[in-house]
Amino acid sequence: MTEQTLVLIKPDGVQRGLVGEVIARIERKGLTLAALELRTVTEEVAGQHYAEHAERPFYGSLIEFITSGPLVAAVVEGPRAIAAFRQLAGGTDPVEKATPGTVRGDFALETQYNIVHGSDSPESAAREIALWFPALNS
Ligand code: PPS
Repeated sequence: MTEQTLVLIKPDGVQRGLVGEVIARIERKGLTLAALELRTVTEEVAGQHYAEHAERPFYGSLIEFITSGPLVAAVVEGPRAIAAFRQLAGGTDPVEKATPGTVRGDFALETQYNIVHGSDSPESAAREIALWFPALNS
């Protein structure tokens, strides 16, 4: 069953020149791009994207970081795309959770600067795709 997931290559990934690396890994896995755009996100969109984390202690710095520069937003699709991309990304903490061979395990050291985001469930994917790419699937 084909699924779609929302992927962000966060400002640290763009600044470090890792866009091609991340997209190559997505494509090598067999997933495909349904949408792709470089953009700088407003605090409003960032707040909606991370709304479920509004009470977390790191929320303020997460919003500051995600709005700090251009990022790449993409809709990635394929069989089990949500889980498949999270496998490619690795765990949230790039040292304690992500293993070598994953994007975070290979390229990141700090949790905030963990390069990529991927939707964590079908419900999150639907909500996030509608937020970032409202014209898609409509
Ligand atoms: S947790 O701990 O499992 O709830 O974390 P998670 O749901 O994976 O994290 C939610 C997003 O918050 C980011 N995050 C942080 N940012 C800054 N500092 C700290 N300490 C921190 N912990 C988690 C994490 O990267 C997730 O962002 P996305 O963009 O969804 O990957």
